[in-house]
Amino acid sequence: MTFSLGWKMTGLRTRKTLVLGVLVSVALLATACYNLKTGDVQVGGAINFTLPAFPETGPHAVQIFTEMHYQPSYRVQEGPRLLPPEGSVPVTGAEILPTSMEGFKALEVPREFSRKYDGADAWHTYQVNCLVCHGVSLDGKGPITTLIGADGDLAYDKGPFPADLRADPTKNSTDGELFGFISGGGRQGLAVRLRGRDSTSPMPEFAKLLNEEDRWALVQFLRATIGPPE
Ligand code: HEC
Repeated sequence: MTFSLGWKMTGLRTRKTLVLGVLVSVALLATACYNLKTGDVQVGGAINFTLPAFPETGPHAVQIFTEMHYQPSYRVQEGPRLLPPEGSVPVTGAEILPTSMEGFKALEVPREFSRKYDGADAWHTYQVNCLVCHGVSLDGKGPITTLIGADGDLAYDKGPFPADLRADPTKNSTDGELFGFISGGGRQGLAVRLRGRDSTSPMPEFAKLLNEEDRWALVQFLRATIGPPE
């Protein structure tokens, strides 16, 4: 509608100019030449620019995007990756567990986890993950131990009984050791693990089940319940 109106109003002169313009463009394009080998393009001797040069035979990548960040050469020119200074200690990223008992012994509750510690949360984590074996009062008499038949016939026959966590060996362990026992599947489990063998302890390796923060929360929960080493 608007289009036809426009034609009517432009009149004969404008129409002539338009036709002339189209003819000139066609003539220019007809004289344009594109050099396949160099990619140079000349339009009517007046406009010059360069298109990608295509080899006459063989495969070549179709150039669709010409922006710089799509070019492979752009990536090549990226600066080299900066490595951390030698001897620096990672503070983010995957958890790295010590590889020796001494390494665990020396660990302390990381400040970020002691600051965030919530006793009720930790008790909940204990109920879900530990209570079945270690019991409500940490005495090692969890519901799982009732699977032992009256005639001494063991239905629960997967190795040692759950440890009494109120006993001296546990109480006199450092926070780091407790963290190790929880992470590595008990005292025996961890010892075997550190020797590079699969744990034979019935206690699961909680490093695979609970994150670092939850395991440190359990250490703090144990310590708060059983008291400091003597
Ligand atoms: C399937 C049963 C089971 C579950 C679940 C379990 N444990 Fe254990 N735990 C054991 C057994 C059995 C031992 C003794 C054998 C050993 O130390 O390897 C033990 C040992 C330990 C010890 C070492 C005690 C010592 O001083 O020798 C700690 C600490 C401990 N458990 C804490 C936990 C915590 C915390 C949880 C929950 C995250 C947990 N356990 C879940 C069975 C279990």
